[in-house]
Amino acid sequence: MDAFLTFTGRFHPLLVHLPIGFILLALLIEFNRKNFNESEKVLKFTLFWTIVSGVFSLISGFFQYQQEGYLWKTIQAHFYFGILTLVLSIGFYFFLRKQAFLIRIPRLFFSVGLLISLLLTGHFGGTITHGENHLTEPLKELSSTFLSGESNDFEVQLNEDNYLEQPMYTSLIAPILSQKCMSCHNPKKTKGELQMHTYKALQKGGKNGLIVNYKNPEQSELFLRIHLPKEEKKHMPPKSKKQLTKAEINIISYWIEIGAPENQTIGQLGVERNKIDAFFSKEKENFYPDVVLDSPDTKTLDQLLSKNILVSPVTKESNLLNVSMLNYPNFETQQMDILQGIQQHLVSIDLSYSSVNDSIFNRLAQFPNLVQIKLNHTKVSGEGMSQLSALKRLKKLYLVETSLKGSNLPQLLNLPAIEQVFVYQSKRNLTEEIELTPKLKGIIKLGDYILPKLASDDIVY
Ligand code: HEC
Repeated sequence: MDAFLTFTGRFHPLLVHLPIGFILLALLIEFNRKNFNESEKVLKFTLFWTIVSGVFSLISGFFQYQQEGYLWKTIQAHFYFGILTLVLSIGFYFFLRKQAFLIRIPRLFFSVGLLISLLLTGHFGGTITHGENHLTEPLKELSSTFLSGESNDFEVQLNEDNYLEQPMYTSLIAPILSQKCMSCHNPKKTKGELQMHTYKALQKGGKNGLIVNYKNPEQSELFLRIHLPKEEKKHMPPKSKKQLTKAEINIISYWIEIGAPENQTIGQLGVERNKIDAFFSKEKENFYPDVVLDSPDTKTLDQLLSKNILVSPVTKESNLLNVSMLNYPNFETQQMDILQGIQQHLVSIDLSYSSVNDSIFNRLAQFPNLVQIKLNHTKVSGEGMSQLSALKRLKKLYLVETSLKGSNLPQLLNLPAIEQVFVYQSKRNLTEEIELTPKLKGIIKLGDYILPKLASDDIVY
């Protein structure tokens, strides 16, 4: 019986075109009826068959709703307008047959009403099968294609800066599923009784139970389906849909093999870099400024190296430099002179654990290309921090475990390019000292950033 209902239900999308055709024909005749001799007769005939085919459409639609896992919420508008269309057709039919109580209603009410009701029924039907934006989406795609010269395929993208701290599921797996699977596996449309919009839903599985087999990962329904040849009926996604790429299949498979974890980060799981290479943004990140400089002064470099100050280019071919005083804890503010020779080249400086104080801000303001400054574990309180506003490229500032005063935080709003300021203090809560405005909240990172554990951390050399 179930199979019969499903079968009947599947005819709905086909059947509905009969009453649609009849109604359109009826409206064409109605609006041109002055040109026909027998228009009333033909109209009655057409509307009669509209009603018959409409009743069948309604029944088949109802079966489809029951059998295919649609939510009532999703289909109700389509359902009600479907009924309204049928009722108006019946009303019009009996109006033409001169039923006493209908005669008083203006004729236009039926014809225009039918037209509107038909359009709305069709629209809500489209919403069910193609999603809420089924009309606007192609337009959006069209316009973005024209504007940017490319289609805006949403892609999974990891970021060099922070990918190790991203949970594997939310940063990699969920976006892939959302892009390639969720159109059929969601609360509105639950094919195979499987939903994928949350981790929980995924864990619940589908009509054949769990889709991840923790004991035998390679026997997982999810694993098998994406590995089946495309021609197989059970291959996912179905062959008419946009397919998973090789890299996507591999990473989903790997994720299943390691037990489909929800919260662990890519760093904690020790996912090898070559497994996820494909998911990094192809565009070069413009974190460092795009300035062309001559090679830095070698005398200065030698001097720095002799003092155990670490100097390194930010990339292999770059003349931009990164300087770190981590091996020089006695470094003091006055000694900043030593960096004069690389004033333009310095883009990132790490003064963490050094002996600098608040006068450092004045000195740092003289290195115009600085993008990143680390002052973690120093005595700075933030007094005079607004002098850094001279640095037009400064994006990141680290002030973790310092003597930072909450009252100095608003100075940060003067920094023209600042994106993130890390201010975590283990022994006190800065937000008790000052109320953060939304703007400050946007740049200040209060969290306790523990470095993610790498798989290689456990290796004993
Ligand atoms: C075009 C719609 C569509 C898309 C897109 C789609 N599926 Fe499906 N999926 C179905 C249908 C229909 C079924 C039920 C029929 C069957 O079992 O083959 C199903 C069933 C499944 C099942 C079996 C559930 C069970 O318990 O029987 C899994 C697993 C699955 N899909 C995974 C995926 C994955 C992974 C993707 C994305 C890579 C995906 N699907 C994309 C339509 C789709």
